[in-house]
Amino acid sequence: MPSMAPLSSGNKNGDGNGNVPGRGNGVPFGGHWGPPESTSATPSAANEAVGKRKATTLLPQTRVTKRQALLNQRRALPIASVESELVNHVKKNETLVVIGETGSGKTTQLPQFLHSAGFCKGGMMVAITQPRRVAAITVATRVAEEMGVEVGQEVGYSIRFEDCTSPSTQLKYMTDGMLLREALLDPLLSRYSLVVIDEAHERTIHTDVLFGLLKGVQKRRQAASTATKSSKKKAATTGVALKDLQNLLTTSKTPLEKKNSALKLVIHLEEIPGDILLFLTGQEEIESMERLLKERASHLSPKVPKLLVVPIYAALPSEQQMRVFQPAPDGTRKVILATNIAETSLTIPGIRYVIDPGLVKARAYNPRTGVESLEVVPVSKAQARQRSGRAGRERPGKCFRLYTEDLYRKLEDSTVPEIKRCNLANVVLQLKAFGIDDVLGFDFMDKPSRIAIVKSLEHLYSLGALTDEGKLSDPIGTRMARFPLEPMYAKAMLISCEMGCSEEMLATVSMMSVDSVFYAPRDKLQEANNARNRFISADGDHITLINVLRHYIQEAEEAGAGAGAGEAEDTSSNSNSNENKKVFKRIRSWCTANFINARSLKRAVDIQKQIRGYVEGMGLTIISCGDDMLSFRRCLAASFFLNAARRQLDGTYRALASGQSVAIHPSSVLFGQKPDCVVFNELVRTNRSYIRNITRVDSLWLPELAPHYYAAQALNTPCQS
Ligand code: CDP
Ligand code: MG
Repeated sequence: MPSMAPLSSGNKNGDGNGNVPGRGNGVPFGGHWGPPESTSATPSAANEAVGKRKATTLLPQTRVTKRQALLNQRRALPIASVESELVNHVKKNETLVVIGETGSGKTTQLPQFLHSAGFCKGGMMVAITQPRRVAAITVATRVAEEMGVEVGQEVGYSIRFEDCTSPSTQLKYMTDGMLLREALLDPLLSRYSLVVIDEAHERTIHTDVLFGLLKGVQKRRQAASTATKSSKKKAATTGVALKDLQNLLTTSKTPLEKKNSALKLVIHLEEIPGDILLFLTGQEEIESMERLLKERASHLSPKVPKLLVVPIYAALPSEQQMRVFQPAPDGTRKVILATNIAETSLTIPGIRYVIDPGLVKARAYNPRTGVESLEVVPVSKAQARQRSGRAGRERPGKCFRLYTEDLYRKLEDSTVPEIKRCNLANVVLQLKAFGIDDVLGFDFMDKPSRIAIVKSLEHLYSLGALTDEGKLSDPIGTRMARFPLEPMYAKAMLISCEMGCSEEMLATVSMMSVDSVFYAPRDKLQEANNARNRFISADGDHITLINVLRHYIQEAEEAGAGAGAGEAEDTSSNSNSNENKKVFKRIRSWCTANFINARSLKRAVDIQKQIRGYVEGMGLTIISCGDDMLSFRRCLAASFFLNAARRQLDGTYRALASGQSVAIHPSSVLFGQKPDCVVFNELVRTNRSYIRNITRVDSLWLPELAPHYYAAQALNTPCQS
């Protein structure tokens, strides 16, 4: 069953639980108000605190004024008028659904209301879950600022691999995946008086599972739970496309044409000043648009406003994500290139124009074949409205939809919940780890199809995570559940420890968790290819990627970076020392010279460090097989036997588990060669199905290393050479 990015809760296009390398507890943007003070969430108490400060002049006047301004903003929010009503409802009901316009104050204000209503007394906390890590950080920072405390103290956040909380934390913003993990350790969630599930309408897989789990927790506890649900923004505040531009654009059909239209629009938008938010489908598309825009912008006449291009997508390290919040200098127009990460939950100030090509990269899953893939699909009407709602939050704005009204009418009303369109193996594994054995009977908000659940049980069983009775196996299943990885990758880590190549598997899993590290600008294709050739292994992509990582780490060590190149911080703005800057510069230039995407590689190194921690935490040792790549390839076959494909008479490949016909992706180092049998890690569907990240294996290894799976279905389709 092909699975996508190995990081189980941080897929490349959406969910926000990816790692956040090397962030300290600093405030990523904006300021905070000096030393922690007693929190003051009710308007009157807050006012008093400000008054005291003025009187004693503890803080510079400007800060007090800013605080006062914040307070005025808070009081003007629609939600402020219903504070006591809301608190009463929370007290009276076990579950509450709060629906309000985007920007009305649900995320930032409701938790503060609860705080001042006494929900955080006696060491209890209020958890507020967010589908995305960047939202957890920005909202916690904003709320801390409003409460006049330092983020990490009374108001904190917790995202995977980064815990910015302290014993004094009372309001805890966290990704939904994090709360799930906490529930594994503390099934009663006993430290929380209340859980707020934010952006519940997004229906991420974690949110859906949380709902089911919380119902169980509620049954056992007499605690109240609140769910917030955001409604659509009033359509009236955002406009639709300008007629002439629309005529220019509505003929766009293919993604490439859309890209050109978007490019032209960004460059030639002659409207009053205001920033632009352009929705794209993924990291690669964003990076190529970034290059194109920068190049075009450099040739523009000086009369045209300058462009400041800022990307944002889930896999981007947090400190770089924060750049979208920094205002552009005067006379410059900020252009934010974003995935659907910017569709909800992020409040980016200053956006006046939204450009919506109408496409989104989404997970798709065929439960019959068990094939999961990433596909670019049209957005739903709800998504399109949500996107347009990002324009003109502060003043009138415009949204340019790069598709016809006719097409809009044909869009689905709302997006199918993620749980109904992805491989459930990870969810089922987590449920089993919670001790919920009857997964089919679990109280899902929207039940996935029976066949999808059964498929995932089969998948876990074939990986050895479940016993014949369907219980979590020990130690394999219990260990697999502990990794923040897709089950297949978790199992690969365990197998590699036994097969003596865990260092290489660690590198593989890390590299599979990030977008492509190879970067090939169109005007320097030949040079880029030559550079890649230095790393290529004739055995395939996995070893090629390992070579890249090995060289990179060696280079970083020679440059003097601490253990692992991840130490070389990429925060161009605030590198700590000159020494660091020098190291970073050297690594950067190595990456540039080798046409390597430094960002992706750095993230891979961070992930590597974190997974290493998990492995060692289980008492297992990381060992390298050195140059014995035969052992490593056998390990790949043993790990990814569910993703094996064999060459057919006609030269195409057949995925053995699903029977699906696939082709080797042109980006693979094995493209153009015709190995008899391969294992792969990714299935991409465009006009046909391509496999990516491929290594050649011996077909006889499959029945040898995965006899439980391949003995029964003898490999009776020999390859004809
Ligand atoms: O959750 P909801 O969409 O109802 O609103 P919110 O996120 O609580 O935001 C309330 C208001 O706070 C917004 O209208 C923003 O103007 C402001 N806000 C902000 O300025 N910066 C943030 N990081 C978050 C919110
Ligand atoms: Mg909100």
